[in-house]
Amino acid sequence: MAIPNRNFSYPTSLKYGAGRIAELADHCKANGIARPLFVTDPGLAAMPMVKKIVADVRNAGLAVEVFADVRPNPVEANIIAGVTAYKAGDHDGVIAFGGGSGLDIGKMIALMHGQTISVFDLEDVDDWWTRADGSKVSPVIAVPTTAGTGSEVGRAGVVTHPATHEKKIIFHPAIMPKVAILDPELTVGLPPKLTAATGMDALAHCLEAYCAPFYHPLSAGIALEGMRLAKENLPRAVKKGGDLDARGNMLVASAMGATAFQRGLGAIHALSHPFGGLYDAHHGLLNGIIMPYVVKANRRRIEKDIERAAAYLGIRGGFDGFLKWIVALRKEIGIPHRLSEIGIDSNRLDEVAAMSIKDPTAGGNPITFTEKQYKALAKKCVVGDL
Ligand SMILES: [Fe+2]
Repeated sequence: MAIPNRNFSYPTSLKYGAGRIAELADHCKANGIARPLFVTDPGLAAMPMVKKIVADVRNAGLAVEVFADVRPNPVEANIIAGVTAYKAGDHDGVIAFGGGSGLDIGKMIALMHGQTISVFDLEDVDDWWTRADGSKVSPVIAVPTTAGTGSEVGRAGVVTHPATHEKKIIFHPAIMPKVAILDPELTVGLPPKLTAATGMDALAHCLEAYCAPFYHPLSAGIALEGMRLAKENLPRAVKKGGDLDARGNMLVASAMGATAFQRGLGAIHALSHPFGGLYDAHHGLLNGIIMPYVVKANRRRIEKDIERAAAYLGIRGGFDGFLKWIVALRKEIGIPHRLSEIGIDSNRLDEVAAMSIKDPTAGGNPITFTEKQYKALAKKCVVGDL
């Protein structure tokens, strides 16, 4: 058998621990940032905790300004407004602070302020990223306030296309944050529903990376341990938000999921991206609902891998036991069983299926589903036919 050529790359420096947000200004300085643009969403920007963090950075001698025009499921207009703010303030780096949208838009502003092309010219297709001038990308310090997206260790951001509502993955290797601060104290205020939804995103990243059909043993190992951390800590973090140990382990599971998914994602994301784009629904919540349907649909290709994972996770009953565990976990943390429970109908399944087969994550699914198969799978997710 031919030995594959593969590139394995894990360069983000992770600073883990309660209270480590106090080091934020030091990490900016160490990375040559004197005038950071602090990018976050309006809800976080208004919080006293965040105002204090910004004040501390300013008191450390850095000319920091806040940009908070970032909506959930961010759009191109958020990037354009951020680039304008970046240039107006003559900034020299970005603090990307928040959940997925704050982190992604922060990275996109760091990427786009020095380019003359559209962000959609840098979609994660072939080597399109080489269209950008990499020397003009600013350094990013990332601070996640949710445990799910893992964008703090990623080289991509997700932006919804204004005309087609497709969620486009924008990729450039230089937007990988230099430092990510994983401080569980920043996540204790996250409400149970959001803790559950974002946590299911982290689990989906680990699970899909683990099942992706590519040679990447480093990612497979990280994904497996990430699943174990999610299994043991997500219910605790949902039920007892102040549990710093559970919160911290979920932050690590989230970073591990996104580290692992350079191996690939799959049909959970290939379905949740179109549903999210068309219905403006929460990404992690969609993944949590869709997860068991996709695992079941992939059975013939992943059964042995899932049996090994189940053994590692202490789940009895092999593949069937694993599937039961996902369903039980969802129930325990309040994730619905069907998409119809969150207001998604069956009226746009043709669009969903057409977008799913084109979604870049579809290529990582263990089975290459046809458009018809995606439509049937999407229908099962809507009506709850597991
Ligand atoms: Fe995701």
